[in-house]
Amino acid sequence: MSQYTLITGASSGIGESLAREYAESGHDLILTARRTDRLEKLAAELRERHGRSVEVVSADLGDPSGVAELADTVIARDWGLQGLVNNAGFGDSGPFAKRPREKQLAMIQVNVTALVDLTHRLLPQLQRAQAPFILNVASVAAFQAGPNMAVYYASKAFVLSFSESLAEELRGRVSVSALCPGPTDSEFAERAEASKAKLFKMGTMTSQQVAEIGVKNQNRTIVIPGVRNKMMVWSGKVTPRALLRRVAYRINR
Ligand SMILES: NC(=O)c1ccc[n+]([C@@H]2O[C@H](COP(=O)([O-])OP(=O)(O)OC[C@H]3O[C@@H](n4cnc5c(N)ncnc54)[C@H](OP(=O)(O)O)[C@@H]3O)[C@@H](O)[C@H]2O)c1
Repeated sequence: MSQYTLITGASSGIGESLAREYAESGHDLILTARRTDRLEKLAAELRERHGRSVEVVSADLGDPSGVAELADTVIARDWGLQGLVNNAGFGDSGPFAKRPREKQLAMIQVNVTALVDLTHRLLPQLQRAQAPFILNVASVAAFQAGPNMAVYYASKAFVLSFSESLAEELRGRVSVSALCPGPTDSEFAERAEASKAKLFKMGTMTSQQVAEIGVKNQNRTIVIPGVRNKMMVWSGKVTPRALLRRVAYRINR
């Protein structure tokens, strides 16, 4: 029986690049996001180029019933699931009090609740596979507070902490990895209304670079792509938190 890898948020950016990487390294795929036209186009390209089975399931992870329907579809169709890549997510830029409450709550639903929900629903399937794995896309934002992107940074701290705990609980049975990119070329900055923030003007990695490093190192619990991002996280560990949040406040503007 073939074994599939489910990738959320595969319609653009890092998720699309992860799909390309996994297809190239021999995985059959289930691609999900809301923009089905993009997923279908990518699926056709990957089938043609790599000869893999690629299924498309459209789902809105901003709606709890969308998460349940996605998991039910994967289970009902009995696609043997080997990999779960929780990549879908978005951010929002600006002072918390001035940003729309609905967007903050939707962010927690997609970045946190859907990730936990999907993982819990699909773990029994994963545990029946050979060499099963979970790859959660966190961020360098996970390592500190992020004024002007407060809810986003907090959501990624959750993803990192949750992934580390799961990695320990499932050690030897399911590999769990948290991929922690820094600023990356994708639709993220525009959707977060952060294109003008200093953070994104200081240089970005490509989604392809991030995905390549993520897939190659998914046997590690925490993966930080790029020397500059690694240095940022390391230096953050020896910098007083009060100073770190001041700096974040400035570069997130
Ligand atoms: N770019 C960066 O600088 C950066 C840095 C660190 C971490 N990250 C993380 O990387 C992950 C991927 O982001 P990206 O940079 O590739 O941004 P992106 O190009 O905007 O991609 C985000 C993906 O998430 C999907 N998504 C968003 N809301 C969704 C919803 N309600 N239901 C289903 N899917 C949804 C989008 O698909 P549809 O719109 O088609 O539904 C899209 O495929 C995110 O978790 C992000 O937080 C990004």
